[in-house]
Amino acid sequence: MNEVILLSLIPAAVLATFSCKNQAGNNVDWFAVYKMPIVPGDASINGVQDGVGFYYLDAKSPGAFVPSTNMLNDTKQAIAYTLQQFYTKQNDSPVFHPYDGDSDTDDGGDASESTKYGHTKGVVFFYGTAVIWLVHSVPKFPPPEHYSYPESGMDYGQTMLCMTFKYAELSKIGTQLFYNRPNIYSSFLPTTMSVANPDLVNVDLYDSLVAPTLKTDLTVESWRRGGLISLQCSLTYHANDALSIHVGNTPEFSYTKDHSKMARSTDSSKPYVCIGDINRMTSQYVRGGGTLCTNSSSLWGAFSVIATQNSC
Ligand SMILES: *[C@@H]1O[C@H](CO)[C@@H](O)[C@H](O)[C@H]1NC(C)=O
Ligand SMILES: *[C@@H]1O[C@H](CO)[C@@H](O)[C@H](O)[C@H]1NC(C)=O
Repeated sequence: MNEVILLSLIPAAVLATFSCKNQAGNNVDWFAVYKMPIVPGDASINGVQDGVGFYYLDAKSPGAFVPSTNMLNDTKQAIAYTLQQFYTKQNDSPVFHPYDGDSDTDDGGDASESTKYGHTKGVVFFYGTAVIWLVHSVPKFPPPEHYSYPESGMDYGQTMLCMTFKYAELSKIGTQLFYNRPNIYSSFLPTTMSVANPDLVNVDLYDSLVAPTLKTDLTVESWRRGGLISLQCSLTYHANDALSIHVGNTPEFSYTKDHSKMARSTDSSKPYVCIGDINRMTSQYVRGGGTLCTNSSSLWGAFSVIATQNSC
């Protein structure tokens, strides 16, 4: 079971052909984004009134989220610069592709949602020796041909994590991808990606896999609408639920305004942050899904955004 959660992968060196890009368009091993929900009348960050404002941090400035001057619908910011590498090369020989197992529906327990594929959202693309994995919670993103930020991602808070890996790490990512059962459009995935883990259905990912694997309690911020999972206080390690979020100078907002799928360990000696695509509610039991966890004190510190939570 352990191989399905990625722990402490070593980011690729700068020699990589592709890389996550920072807010100035330069290479960076990883970056994280917390996009704010629409906050009418607020001016804490550019674009927050229209649902395109976000906070950013990366490997070179890991201490805290900083407000982004440019908005998500702008092409001069980290996410657009990163994806532009793919858009520019997409007609070259191979690889990569956005995957999105949820492209026709939003979250919210819609009965028509497909259960065949996972709930995964993200992009993996690779070129030369580098692999970029951008995991996020934005429905219908990214668009296939050129960068834009969709209407479907404006209302709610969203999280993103971009990581640059060496090609050699790809098989580990592949295992994770397959576990998620994403709707992969690419035809160039290595065979190691066909490692399946069919055991984990009808369980909550966080209580059953993430917390015991990381050996710490978690607080999970996820989309929860109906079918709420009660706290599993009898477990050695269990998941609590975030009730509100507070990032930077933007006013605190309720979990009901947030579409993120983020988990943070409660134990500072095990400083994990996980960004993924699975919610903590029973309608997600039947769906594949996963999360990408990183072990980093600075990232963990920056993600101290959970203002209130429930607990045992
Ligand atoms: C982005 O959205 C904001 C708010 O709706 C708007 O004012 C701005 O013109 C947009 N920018 C671009 C580049 O579309
Ligand atoms: C996580 O990082 C800490 C140092 O910050 C290290 O002591 C610990 O061994 C790491 N844990 C794992 C599972 O890699």
